Formats: sequence, C-alpha cells, structure tokens
Amino acid sequence: MMRGAGFPCGVTLALFLAASHLHAGSTVIAKKAALSTASPAATSVGLHVLRNGGNAMDAAVAVSFALAVVHPQAGNLGGGGFLVYYDAESKSVWTLDFRETAPRAATATMYVQPDGTPSTKSRTGARASGVPGTVRGLAAAHKRFGSRSWKELIAPAASIAREGFRVDDELQRELGEEKSERCIDQFPSTAAIFFPGGKPAAAGSTLVQKDLATTLERIAVLGPNDFYEGETAKRIVEGIHAAGGILAFRDLRDYQPVWRAPVKVLFRGYEIYTMAPPSAGGFIVGSVLNILSGFDLEAAGFQTATAIHLQAEASRRAYIDRNRYLGDPAMTRIPYRELLSSERAAQWRASIDPQRATPTVTLMQPAAAPPESSHTTHFSIADEAGNIASMTTTLNENFGSGFIVPGAGFFLNNEMDDFTTAPGKPNRYGMVQGSTNAIEPGKRMVSSMTPVIVMKDARPFLVLGSRGGPAIPTTVLQVILNVIVFGKSLPDAVAAPRFHHQGLPEEIFYEYERAPEPLLAAIRKLGHGVRAREPIGDVHALQFQNGTIVAVADPRRGGAAGGY
Ligand code: DON
Repeated sequence: MMRGAGFPCGVTLALFLAASHLHAGSTVIAKKAALSTASPAATSVGLHVLRNGGNAMDAAVAVSFALAVVHPQAGNLGGGGFLVYYDAESKSVWTLDFRETAPRAATATMYVQPDGTPSTKSRTGARASGVPGTVRGLAAAHKRFGSRSWKELIAPAASIAREGFRVDDELQRELGEEKSERCIDQFPSTAAIFFPGGKPAAAGSTLVQKDLATTLERIAVLGPNDFYEGETAKRIVEGIHAAGGILAFRDLRDYQPVWRAPVKVLFRGYEIYTMAPPSAGGFIVGSVLNILSGFDLEAAGFQTATAIHLQAEASRRAYIDRNRYLGDPAMTRIPYRELLSSERAAQWRASIDPQRATPTVTLMQPAAAPPESSHTTHFSIADEAGNIASMTTTLNENFGSGFIVPGAGFFLNNEMDDFTTAPGKPNRYGMVQGSTNAIEPGKRMVSSMTPVIVMKDARPFLVLGSRGGPAIPTTVLQVILNVIVFGKSLPDAVAAPRFHHQGLPEEIFYEYERAPEPLLAAIRKLGHGVRAREPIGDVHALQFQNGTIVAVADPRRGGAAGGY
C-alpha cells in the first residue's frame, strides 16, 4: 500500500500494514487498544505508537500529523478542529477547541460583492483562511496528556512526506473535482505538488512532499511556536500577503486553543460527552435527543418512515435554533441552558405532528444551515490504559482554500466560509444565516464538528465522530440511536442508511442507492420532500463490549480500523 515510507526505526510502513490487523472500511475486534481513521496509512502510524507504549494522546498527535501528509483533503497543519479526551486516571472528560479564528483585519462584509451577493473569495485562495489552530491545539493536548516526545510523534509523518506515499483513487478524483470546480491548480505552489504536468497526481504514483517534510521536521525540533512565530509563520504571512490575503503575523502569534467544559447530554441512562460552542454539534445532538426523548422510537421501529420522520422533525427544529442563536461564545451570549432545557424540548415536541411534516417556514423567519460540504476527518483511538481520543479536524472543503503556503508545503483552510459571509443575503445554497455568526476580528466561526464519547455506568461505552458538514451531528446521532435505541451492533449501526434534515431546504436528504425506495415512498407520504445525496458522513467509531474494543471504519469510504 505504501512505497518507501521510511520510519526512524527503519521498518517500512508496508510491513506495518502487513503485520497489523488493518482492514479498509471494516471492523476489527481488539483486546487491548484500537483505532479507526480515514486512512490505512494513518491507522498504521497510530497503531505503531500504541503498540510501542504510547497512549491515546500520543497516537492522536501522530495520526493527525500523518493525516496532514497522506490525506491532504482534510488532514492538516493549516486547519483546525476539536478533541474530546477521556483521561482514564482521573476518569474525566476534557474537550479542546482548536477552531480557527477570523484575522484581525477581517470585517463582516469582506466577502460581500457590490450587488450584495457573497463572493467566492471565502472559499478559494488566500483570503479564505482563518487563523489555523491545529498545531497549537495538538501541542496543548500533548502537553497535558502525552507521554512520548513531540519529536518522535511527528517523525513518521515527516518521513512519509519526504519519501512519498502512493496516491489512491480518492485523492486523484478529489483533486480533479476541485480543479474543475474551483481551479485550485491556479496557485503555483499547489500545482507544483499536486498537479504534475497540469494533471491531478495519478493514482498509483508516489507523491513526495519535500517542503512539507521540512516544515514537519522544523515543527518537530522547534515546537509549535515555529508555526506561529518562527520560520513557518514567516512563510505563511509572506505567502498569504503576496497572494492578496489579510492574515497577519500578529494573528498567528496571538492564536490560542481553548479548553472548554464539555456538553453533557443524558439520554436513557447514557452520558454523551461532546463539544460546546463554537461547535454546534453538541448542541444539535443534545437538542434532538431532548425532543426525541418524548417519543416511543422503539415502537416506531428501526429504519421506518415514522422513526425517520420523528428524527427529521426534531433535527429541523434544532437547526432553527442553531442558526438563530449559536456563535462564538466569546462574542455572543448563547442562551444555552434555555435552549437545552426540557421546557424548550417540550415546546418543540408539541409542534411536531407525528403524521405530517411541518414546513420550516411556518416555524421560523427564513434562516438555515451554513454552506458546508466536501471534507473533514474524524478518528477515534483507545489505548491499553483506557484513555480515549475522539477528534475531528478539517480544512473545511477538500484541500481547504486550495492555496498551499509557498515553500511550506501545506494547504490553508477556507474556514471563513463557515461564517455568515453576506449578512441578510442567501448564500450559495440560497440560505440565510444569522447575525450571531457574522464575521468579527478574532472570532471563531460556528462549526458542525461533533466528536463524541458516550459513557454508561461511569465507563466509556462508545466513541465516534464523522465528516459531513451540517450532517455531522445528525450522522453521529443516528449511529448513537441505532446502538442505544435499536440495539444494533456497531458495524450495522454505522452501515445503516442515513438521513438528514437541517431545517432548510424543506427536504430530507437520503443516500443515493442506499435508502430503499419503499421507505422513501413512505417518507414522502408523511409530507416530506426527499433529495438524493452522495454517501453522508464517514464515521470512525469504537465500542467497548464484553472486555473487547470493536473498531469500525465506515464502509462508505476508504478508511481503516486497527487494533490488537
Ligand atoms: O466546521 C465545520 O462544520 C465545517 N467546516 C466542516 C466541513 C465538513 O465537515 C466537510 N465534510 N465533509
């Protein structure tokens, strides 16, 4: 699977792959430690760390840096994310927010064109990037929970970048898509690495990333400050300025990740720990479960029109609240307690007709979910000592802004597009977002990323998360319901067809060729519009069961579970 991926110990990654229990898009049952990530090579790196006595945090750091090399669509140095971590020693759950922030020079109307519509600059090129949070995020998490040296954990990624890895079909295809849709090959720094001869790197070819290797080696030796105040910072700022962007040295220097109190949702005897704002994920999971707790889902049945209708109606209402109230908690007062109260859930529940869809426009002033699609990546890791890392990270769209920092070899995010880019105006999906998520200097844009750890009787039970933009919280939620309410095994819970409702558009999204036609007909009968979509999400999950760890990589994509 990999060619010439040298490791410090001199063992090739191909050997790791052969020796480990790695199965792309499948299930592994492990006795001691396990993980699931979006890339077989990254899973292999994480497994190596775990087998050699590293803990879940060490593996999370190594996997994150490896994903930045072998999964450049979403793995990153130039993006951000969220970590939910269970520390076995203190038996406590921690959450770290390393979401990007708007640069100081950003303004609420920076993407508004003279005719009032949003420009494409929030998506592509050097003006699309928020201040990256990943490197200081990983360093903060490593400092608190890591046991192996920072340098040793970055080494596998640096080595793969220097010696090259084999491009897979997915990477070639997605480079091609972003070339035709957003011309990301317009940036010479991007074209030089990912579009040899003007074409997307070909599946089967070996992709070497020398600049990225040097950047990783520098960060390994000098620590995270190289990225925020040193040579890498200089390259970021100079590269961005030369390409017309606004991110300044001071923005990088001042960036800080934030440890936050987790959102804790109680549901049927389980405790669900996940991210607080600026993620909307925890809020949506909590709000939907609160609303659903008043319905008899078991009686409705697994994958029935009634069950999907109730989930969709609960989601529709949660997304209305999301878009009206959520923003960066540092800048917006979010009535969180009220929104997640049983009174609020009861009010929303009373407005649900069990037999009929409620048009969103009758419940709200038009407002809707933000323009999120494409790519993000989640991984779940459990070590022998019982520590757990559940982490979701993203550049926003595939390859973020498409802009590679010249001479540093990594993509910058296009997370600015998660803000309300044109206040009061429909975005490119014809939707209008609220003012609580307007651009302000230093502000974090609302996210849908939802890394989760579910506890039962004070012990870890389930670990999961997904990619999928606004469908992340509903994806995570369906897997939780499939296990907890419908009694499905984890592989079946992950494989089951997914549905998604986000308020507007007035439709339930379903997975093309996965949802059975009779079920769709029954859903339509309840008054729902339905719309086909590509596979929804990419779940990487672990379940603790009878002394074993069941690790599942979503069969929809090319990730891999591993364990021993
Ligand atoms: O933070 C967010 O919610 C988005 N930037 C995530 C984008 C995403 O999940 C795309 N994935 N498939």
